[in-house]
Amino acid sequence: MSLLFEPFEVAGIKLPNRLVMPPMGTGLPDHEGFVTDETIAYYRRRAQGGIGLISIEASLVSPDAYGVGPELRLHEEKYVPGLRRLADAVHAEGVPVGVQLWHPGRQTLLGKPIAPSAIPLSRRTPIPHELSVAEIEDLVAYYARSAVHCRDAGYDFVEVHGAHCYLPCEFLSPLSNHREDDYGGSLENRARFMLEIVAAIRAACGEDFPVFFRISGEEGADGGFGVEDTMQVSRWLEEAGVACISVSGGNWYALHLTIPPMSVERGVLVPAAARIRDVISIPVIAAGRLDDVELAERILADGQADLIAVGRALIADADWPRKVREGRREDIRPCIACNACVDLVARAEEARCAVNPEVGRDGTWHVAPANTPRRVMVVGSGPSGMEAARIARLRGHHVSLWERDPVLGGKLDVASRAPSKRTVLLFNDYQARTLARLGVDIHVGVEVTAETIDAEAPDAVIVATGAEPLVPPIPGLDSPGVVDAQEILLDRIQVEPGERVAIIGGSATGCETAEFLVGTASEIAILEMLPTVGRGIELITRQRIIKELKGAGVRILTESRVTAVEDDRVVYERPDGETETLVVDRVALAIGWRPRGPWLADALNGREVQIIGDALTPADFVAAINVGANAGLAV
Ligand SMILES: Cc1cc2nc3c(=O)[nH]c(=O)nc-3n(C[C@H](O)[C@H](O)[C@H](O)COP(=O)(O)O)c2cc1C
Ligand code: SF4
Repeated sequence: MSLLFEPFEVAGIKLPNRLVMPPMGTGLPDHEGFVTDETIAYYRRRAQGGIGLISIEASLVSPDAYGVGPELRLHEEKYVPGLRRLADAVHAEGVPVGVQLWHPGRQTLLGKPIAPSAIPLSRRTPIPHELSVAEIEDLVAYYARSAVHCRDAGYDFVEVHGAHCYLPCEFLSPLSNHREDDYGGSLENRARFMLEIVAAIRAACGEDFPVFFRISGEEGADGGFGVEDTMQVSRWLEEAGVACISVSGGNWYALHLTIPPMSVERGVLVPAAARIRDVISIPVIAAGRLDDVELAERILADGQADLIAVGRALIADADWPRKVREGRREDIRPCIACNACVDLVARAEEARCAVNPEVGRDGTWHVAPANTPRRVMVVGSGPSGMEAARIARLRGHHVSLWERDPVLGGKLDVASRAPSKRTVLLFNDYQARTLARLGVDIHVGVEVTAETIDAEAPDAVIVATGAEPLVPPIPGLDSPGVVDAQEILLDRIQVEPGERVAIIGGSATGCETAEFLVGTASEIAILEMLPTVGRGIELITRQRIIKELKGAGVRILTESRVTAVEDDRVVYERPDGETETLVVDRVALAIGWRPRGPWLADALNGREVQIIGDALTPADFVAAINVGANAGLAV
């Protein structure tokens, strides 16, 4: 019997199972902080998938609070009608729902940052205003007022965002709290703001209105708080009347614990949740890549947590809970923990997903059957080609998919080769499995020619042939020791143990090639013209990969413009005009991509053609999946 699907109760809230959707910003509210139709459609769709409880995204509690872009607001009565429509939509699917109360504190990027002490987040962010005691009291009152609005809008609970070094967590952290009054110094003092918020909410909403609390089990940064501290804080929160503790992790300096990217192992936050659960008697929610069913079951069976957060996996596939319950795990569209979703939200854009084109257009998404089934030929099986084939087939077309390489995947296959990115294969395999199940006619290892097209006689052709490496006009790049970095990743070119390798270009491919070569090459250097490497990698993954590359001894030479490749050396110029050289055995090129040139223009002449994906503009997976889906919908 699966523990995951046992009903559960928290402070009178009845959950049909032990799976919860943790708060996740969507960028779907409007710029004034109101719920939009798209916000409602997004949450309704997730409620329909069988999740046991939903905690709506971090929502701002006071007028001075701003995060990065469109975020829900709670502090005025005018927000209540929209909030009520959202609660009603989730309730209509039989799912309990609450809202997360949020003040970003010194992580206020759009407005005026505030904090317990005037310590900036980083060298590049402004010095925050240090809160006076009167201002702290005002803010506590705003948390309570916002909670009342949520209760009045029909929510089952509120969740205080006390994690991730937003305001309450900034009070708790010795890194951001250097106060010498009642709010600073001892753990008790640093936890005071958190406990005052809880007390104020309970006083305003009534003691029977459940208050959940989210904490970072540990900050994961030098000088920050640790799990011994949060165990004590959790005891105090329980005594203060909190109904449930949700244990997340990390802070601004350790974002890999907050939203663990694919390079971080599953369940990394569970030990902290388990230790906290040991010292309290209210339920504990664990989070952090727990979409491995065996792992999630084990966490419950071992008593490490009471509830399992399914976050990004529910973005990737809203039906994740239902499919697990029905024993249809093969049908789950897997989250690859690429963090493209959070990267977009952090840039004030609407959430989209690298594997699910429905995200952000849940309300209008409709795969309409084709009026007349046609013969559709999709050339190229990268992320956009495969998605175009899938959607076109779902619409009833007769679809054939053609790939030059011996395996499906194109850029997905290349992207999965770095050790930290093997998870990408999960999605590649899912797409391949789905296409086969749907009856797409798959051809691998076939170079499509004019004859192939004539023989197929398609009614429509979707060209998704991808991009080719950019080769800049640097003298010496035609020498035999210079290779395309992709060829190394794909194991078509073997680097021998002990070789010294220079990688020209610090893009995602450059960094991944370096990671791939760690342990084989004796010396690895990345040469990048720009001041940073990791262009095109989302922030959290980039933070981590750079740290690991440096830890493994990879030399990262930024602001280094390669001017020539000669026999056994790479010549490069530093910003001060000095020329330097690196002695190497091999040079790998990872400069960038450009669309392949016109493809079989004569053979396609007179046919219905869509050119999509990297074949049109080299882009990321989110763009790829979306243009692929659009092509499938349009054909
Ligand atoms: C797009 C996105 C937005 C997020 N926004 C919030 C948020 O508003 N509040 C919060 O406490 N955590 C937020 N998180 C963290 C998640 O709640 C969750 O703890 C994290 O994604 C790890 O769980 P998972 O591996 O199941 O996704 C966000 C995560 C993502 C991916
Ligand atoms: S964008 Fe990436 S991390 Fe986010 S849900 Fe989709 S697959 Fe998962």
